[in-house]
Amino acid sequence: MKITVVGAGGNVGSTAALTIAQRDFAKEVVLLDLERKDGEKTFYPSKGRALDQWQTSPIHLFDTKTTGTADYADTAGSQICIITAGVPRRPGMSRDDLLSINADIVKSVTENLVKHSPDTIIIVVSNPLDVMTKVALDASGLPKEKVMGMAGILDTARYRAFLAEELDISPKDIQALLMGGHGDTMVPLPRYTTVAGIPVTQLIDTDRLNEIVERTKVGGGELVGLMGTSAWYAPGAASAQMAEAIALDQNRIFPCCAYLDGEFGQKDICIGVPVKLGTGGIKQIIEVELDADEQKLLDSSAGSVRSTLEDLKRIMEK
Ligand code: LAC
Repeated sequence: MKITVVGAGGNVGSTAALTIAQRDFAKEVVLLDLERKDGEKTFYPSKGRALDQWQTSPIHLFDTKTTGTADYADTAGSQICIITAGVPRRPGMSRDDLLSINADIVKSVTENLVKHSPDTIIIVVSNPLDVMTKVALDASGLPKEKVMGMAGILDTARYRAFLAEELDISPKDIQALLMGGHGDTMVPLPRYTTVAGIPVTQLIDTDRLNEIVERTKVGGGELVGLMGTSAWYAPGAASAQMAEAIALDQNRIFPCCAYLDGEFGQKDICIGVPVKLGTGGIKQIIEVELDADEQKLLDSSAGSVRSTLEDLKRIMEK
């Protein structure tokens, strides 16, 4: 199993690569990123990070070989590619600027990956996540089962971590489901949250649970506020978990950003839903029952993703 991580000179990509290596289920992880010029000097961040990671192999005891490159030819034959490339929003940059810059990056990265690995599975991590997943799907020409986005595992991990702290219990015992777009309109589903099989609603009062749900929705922003840049440990680990489920054909059920063709009343959009992940990618979209309020929240989240998709179309047609 060969896995490529694009944008691996950065924090999210290199965390994904290191997590994959530490879990030791792949033969090779290729860290790809651009070279960086600084005056006379040229730096190779992905080569440096890959070498540094490989030097942890005798300590962490893994065999997965980590290699760095700036050349897509070295990614040839990857069964899974994770795309973390993109720019964060900088001062003076409009949302439209960010959207079109990242869409161009994700499109060209996807085309380059598929050129060298025509049967690959793609996991998108770049933001705005749901829209970038659709950009990658369209640019790849791959079937919908093979292109997905990572957000739900990250968002539910944050929700479960908050709940574990609140209830003073192990995060391992918390199961949760969350749907919708990766943003403030995400739809955590308290009705589908359990602690060792016990509905969470029996263990916490509604107001406190609602506060935790609200904190989860802005969980990414909370970290930007603390660090001045976006998070990487949980986003990197979450994308590695998806790669592992696919590589080992685990049939795990995760919330992932998937292309919908009528499921949950949504068509021609990529958004977070529960899926079964294993060999070949998304084996099934699990159409859990939603009550009227939950469906309304999902529709409104889909509306927000759709409006960003339309913004992108408008920018591209200019
Ligand atoms: C976050 C970014 C990585 O939620 O999407 O932290």
